[in-house]
Amino acid sequence: MVCGMRILTGLQPSGKPHVGNYFGAMKPAVELQSEGEGFYFIADYHAMTSGRDAAALRENVQEMAIDFLACGLDPEKSVFFRQSAVPEVNELAWILSTLCPMPLLNKCHSYKDKVAQGISPNHALFAYPVLMAADILLYDANKVPVGKDQKQHLEVTRSLATKLNETYGEGVAVMPEAIIREETELVLGLDGRKMSKSYNNTLPIFGNEKELRKLVMKIVTDSTPVEEPKSTEDSAIIALYRLFASEADVAQMIADHQSGGFGYGDFKKRLADAYWDFFAAMRERRAEIVADLGYVAEVLRKGEERAREEAAKTLTRVRKAVGLRA
Ligand code: TRP
Repeated sequence: MVCGMRILTGLQPSGKPHVGNYFGAMKPAVELQSEGEGFYFIADYHAMTSGRDAAALRENVQEMAIDFLACGLDPEKSVFFRQSAVPEVNELAWILSTLCPMPLLNKCHSYKDKVAQGISPNHALFAYPVLMAADILLYDANKVPVGKDQKQHLEVTRSLATKLNETYGEGVAVMPEAIIREETELVLGLDGRKMSKSYNNTLPIFGNEKELRKLVMKIVTDSTPVEEPKSTEDSAIIALYRLFASEADVAQMIADHQSGGFGYGDFKKRLADAYWDFFAAMRERRAEIVADLGYVAEVLRKGEERAREEAAKTLTRVRKAVGLRA
């Protein structure tokens, strides 16, 4: 572990995580655990900006906790907690709000995109990046791994950190750095577009085997006859297969496309098998975790305790700097 380096990221509890979430968010977070101290949280406050279903929120948070642990989050290495378990984050968000010029938020495209998708333009949705900045600055995070879509929010965060330091003194905020995952965009969905819940083209990580294999069989292909060579370009089957299969197996599949004589059904079956094997160990781990939900509660309780400790330190420093305390 690189001493003192703090890596932080938040994941929205948005339902069943899919292969895109795994390669884009969970796997990198798990890998980074060995490079510093991980602070990973379930962004339940943020989830409230686009959902109103209390039961669904409760369930999604629990599922996210289970799934992330099953995917390799190690509570011995990382602090794992739910965002709302540390309500202090709202106080810091307020303080940052007082420093946040309206134009900084006005230009955020994620807000505009969400409104365009039909989500009602409420204040929380607009203030979303300020809460996100508070998430990051509350824990003095150094590195923040996020997808491309969050790049602008990290810029807002850095801008607010600068304002805090310029207004109230150097060192009040620690300047965070984004680690942007370009490859997130590369996980293709079942229809060949980017894998995304909003396109309804996802392949979940966990679930019923029969149903999941059926999903793979539904991948859209052209109608080239079995005996003819098949295009390897823009192939969702090959793109997904690359994620799960060995290089040799991928090369074989490409050769079999080029030679002809193999049907898409055959390729899909190979893909389904590779996908199933890839997540086998995580599936087993998940079953163990589900059988011991007390473990999940205990992990989150410990994470919360540790996170609150850090939050308290930062807030003491910030309150003093801004004049809320002597
Ligand atoms: N907005 C992030 C997303 O939708 C989730 C998130 C909330 C986050 N707070 C954060 C990510 C702080 C990194 C740091 O993906």
